[in-house]
Amino acid sequence: MIKVLFVCLGNICRSPLAQGIFENLTQHETDSFFCDSAGTSTYHIGELPDDRMVALAQKHHFLLTHRARQLQKDDFEKFDYIIAMDKVNYQNILSLKNRVSNASEPKIMLMRSFDTSKDQIEVPDPYYGTSQDFEKVFDMLFRSTESFLSFLRNEHPHNEL
Ligand code: 4NP
Repeated sequence: MIKVLFVCLGNICRSPLAQGIFENLTQHETDSFFCDSAGTSTYHIGELPDDRMVALAQKHHFLLTHRARQLQKDDFEKFDYIIAMDKVNYQNILSLKNRVSNASEPKIMLMRSFDTSKDQIEVPDPYYGTSQDFEKVFDMLFRSTESFLSFLRNEHPHNEL
């Protein structure tokens, strides 16, 4: 079973969408893949994803039902991969990991390192953006998630984790 955690700032826009896409693409492989998402902030704990992201996801036949939660120390024990949406998230993940004495070694990576068509390495925060910004984020997350999943299948052909 490969366990993946997607992380952004608020856990209401980018990472719950990545989770929804990943869950959808692996819906017939629930013995092989598990995923969740979290935010580095406390801003929206307990909330459903942002309405604009829910509506956009629905348009593409994805349901988003995750409740926002904050990244916590035991996530470094639970997950094999922690995937950050931007460089600030990435740094915050590393600094929390450094405060966990017995952290196992999940791979911590940037989501867009998997994007096959990228002009930059971050998934920009769409929260204060336009509906076009949300659509761009959807497209980059869809490409990145598909390619991340191919990477995982390649890296773990027998799903040995
Ligand atoms: P996310 O977007 O990190 O993709 O969930 C944000 C959501 C809320 C805020 C910032 C980013 N906020 O500042 O409340």
